[in-house]
Amino acid sequence: MVHNNFPLIVGNWKMHKTMAEAKEHLMRLKPLVFRSKVGVWLAVPFTDIKVAAELAHKSNIRVGAQNMSDLLYGALTGEVSAPMIMEAGASFVILGHSERRRIFNEDDFMINRKVKLALRSGLKVILCIGESQEERDAGKTEAVLKLQLKECLEDVTSAQATNVIIAYEPVWAIGNQKPATVEIVEEIHHLCKNYLANLLELPPKHVHVLYGGSVNSSNAKSFLCSPCVDGLLVGGASLDVQSFAEIIHQAQLAEVSK
Ligand code: PGA
Repeated sequence: MVHNNFPLIVGNWKMHKTMAEAKEHLMRLKPLVFRSKVGVWLAVPFTDIKVAAELAHKSNIRVGAQNMSDLLYGALTGEVSAPMIMEAGASFVILGHSERRRIFNEDDFMINRKVKLALRSGLKVILCIGESQEERDAGKTEAVLKLQLKECLEDVTSAQATNVIIAYEPVWAIGNQKPATVEIVEEIHHLCKNYLANLLELPPKHVHVLYGGSVNSSNAKSFLCSPCVDGLLVGGASLDVQSFAEIIHQAQLAEVSK
């Protein structure tokens, strides 16, 4: 799934940064990462896509959205469609983030409709999956993740799946300075790669999985050194230019040592 751009470091700004702040961030980030061989993607608020994409033009930074509607157009107050984000400059979209699932009640069926529409529209998709603490404690992690993958990727062909990247983001590790251990991440990434390779009839090495959840510039390298970690999805630590650039630097170092 997606053969270039790895290792890939994705910044998820969530609901942070006005247009002016986005502009300042890009201007400072660009010179720090322009020689990097690492893929650098920024998932920004809808209102920042245009300004960020214009500033990222002719750099190794790609800009995307954090969500989109499951329909192309219609009487859907407050929604934003795939063609709208693409025209603004998005080349990818994050779908199925646990905050969308938990706070906005998105289920696997809605996420599946969004995944199929994004792929048909020509967007790359970062599909987030992850178990809650209760599900982990009840020994349901594997079943929960497999079901999320199966339902969210229903009717996606193996050709389309080359434009999907999975992000394993355990809900219990997001935004709380308590990342998963490298052992857990390796176990789950293997599970996802084997399961999806089978489901989509792809070689496991073509299935790419990022880790996300309390990643920062001090712990990034420990994840990136693992051969089954194709990159990171970074929330809080992506908001600060220096710490995000340091994570990208760590990804470059880890790649050289692999
Ligand atoms: P965090 O968020 O890095 O702040 O834990 C990750 C995410 O939710 O994508």
